[in-house]
Amino acid sequence: MCGIVGYVGSQSALDVVMAGLKRLEYRGYDSAGVAVLADGGLAGAKKAGKLVNLEKALVERPLLAGGTGIGHTRWATHGGPTDGNAHPHLDNAGRVAVVHNGIIENFACLRAELAERGHELVSETDTEVVAHLLAEEFSACADLAEAMRLVCRRLEGAFTLVAVHADEPDVVVGARRNSPLVVGVGEGEAFLASDVAAFIAHTRSAIELGQDQVVELRRDGVTVTGFDGGPGDARSYHVDWDVSAAEKGGYDYFMLKEIAEQPKAVADTLLGRIDPAGSLTLDEVRIPAAALREVEKVVVVACGTAFHAGLIAKYAIEHWTRVPCEVELASEFRYRDPILDARTLVIAISQSGETMDTLMALRHAREQGAKVLAVCNTNGSTIPRESDAVLYTHAGPEVAVASTKAFLTQLVACYLVALYLGQVRGTKWGDEIRAVVRDLADISGAVERVLETMEPVRELARSLADKNTVLFLGRHVGYPVALEGALKLKELAYMHAEGFAAGELKHGPIALIEQDVPVVVVVPSPRGRSVLHDKIVSNIQEIRARGARTIVIAEEGDEAVVPYADHLIRVPATPTLLQPLVATVPLQVFACELATARGNEVDQPRNLAKSVTVE
Ligand code: AGP
Repeated sequence: MCGIVGYVGSQSALDVVMAGLKRLEYRGYDSAGVAVLADGGLAGAKKAGKLVNLEKALVERPLLAGGTGIGHTRWATHGGPTDGNAHPHLDNAGRVAVVHNGIIENFACLRAELAERGHELVSETDTEVVAHLLAEEFSACADLAEAMRLVCRRLEGAFTLVAVHADEPDVVVGARRNSPLVVGVGEGEAFLASDVAAFIAHTRSAIELGQDQVVELRRDGVTVTGFDGGPGDARSYHVDWDVSAAEKGGYDYFMLKEIAEQPKAVADTLLGRIDPAGSLTLDEVRIPAAALREVEKVVVVACGTAFHAGLIAKYAIEHWTRVPCEVELASEFRYRDPILDARTLVIAISQSGETMDTLMALRHAREQGAKVLAVCNTNGSTIPRESDAVLYTHAGPEVAVASTKAFLTQLVACYLVALYLGQVRGTKWGDEIRAVVRDLADISGAVERVLETMEPVRELARSLADKNTVLFLGRHVGYPVALEGALKLKELAYMHAEGFAAGELKHGPIALIEQDVPVVVVVPSPRGRSVLHDKIVSNIQEIRARGARTIVIAEEGDEAVVPYADHLIRVPATPTLLQPLVATVPLQVFACELATARGNEVDQPRNLAKSVTVE
């Protein structure tokens, strides 16, 4: 996905837009560009590569100062990351500039029509057709907002569009379908952005836009309409975090900051959800208790790290509620013709709330009559808006592409949902729920203790920087932790890493074991289901006998693993189902440190983006 910023007001549009793009660069960094209205004309610059390349270009060739402008950071979909494919895109007369996030699926036929009408399109992108279409409509109606409405009605696919026209120097117009766009409202100024982080330094008054909406920004106000020109669908809200939360706070990387914020994020996600008697009060779960009592199946849909959170949630949901729970990759879900009905509860887990695969999965579920509960970290995003209910994780903004604090808070939220289902359906008694809630309340401190003992993990990671592969094993809830540890290493260190269910090793993967291959093993508590513990200790012996270098994550006091651990990483003892909340943290630190040792860009790994808003 991409980062988009628009501004109209009395400040320097270039300064505001560039600062906003800096805060959105995590959303995509293949190229960047800006356009500013000044002196009756439109001036712009755009460069392939990171934002710093655009900054250099603007120093060499400054733009005229103006109070209206737009900008873009790109994650390439159509056309490579080149200067020519960078946004903004202009019409042939250079009077319209537009930036875009998403995919215009019918751009090829639109492009052909435009060429027949004499337009010369110079890029490989889908976006450029919009600039030419806007120019055509504007020449007839002389109103950019109306031109945008007319053009949007012709587009198919997912898009956020923000445009300016030199003939309307104090207007910025935006539009959204299935792609994020939020409005910031200031004193005599207004902002458009993919994420509030772009304008949080100027205002915390935001407007969430509904589906198929066009928004017109002027210095004195904001006007929202539907694509059909009808009344707008918009909701004002106050952003509940400040600009410091969107900055690194002294850390070298956002990821390091966000790993360190996990104790607070876990505690914040519990806040306000447990009444003085220790029972759950999930008011925002707006699905009536009667409907929850009739649920016969739970289906979790998510991607990537959020999917791993869903895999762990399955163990808690089934253990505490006895309701069958399926966990599905959102990108596969709707294509397998799933069996869904009004007695199905779908839980859509998403940090950004904009992941297209997950959004399309929940839409499909709702079309089949299922109830959808979102677990999301981004207020005002699309997935909670299109769900029947939402349980927000209170992790605060997560900027680093590799998800860390969002993952831990997704687990906490899923445990709360599972407990709430148990409470509503009577499969968990009040005292049992209070006992788990007390355990959850202790996790923040436990994570803090883990973070205080990570130096050996960093040293180990640095010593493995030249390795080509690391394997990860786990059983029960430790298996999704192994998958998550492998994903972190893949996306940060760009190395082969694979997670396995330890019991599956002997069915093939054990052939991968050779001398000194590093294998991380997440060991379940011996105090829980001791059979699981004993079996994984056997698995450690099996791989060690074949030369593996064993890196064992085990709880304090577990002495059985000591003889077989080349490296032993201790975590606080926790109840079995909650162990992922502490066992994951060393794997986050491990991956981050190994990536750093390899000289990789930790916050913005290659080829990735923070939220993937295309299917
Ligand atoms: C995790 O480190 C990745 N950034 C990625 O797998 C991410 O979890 C996935 O794209 C889902 O994103 P979401 O939670 O915003 O929907």
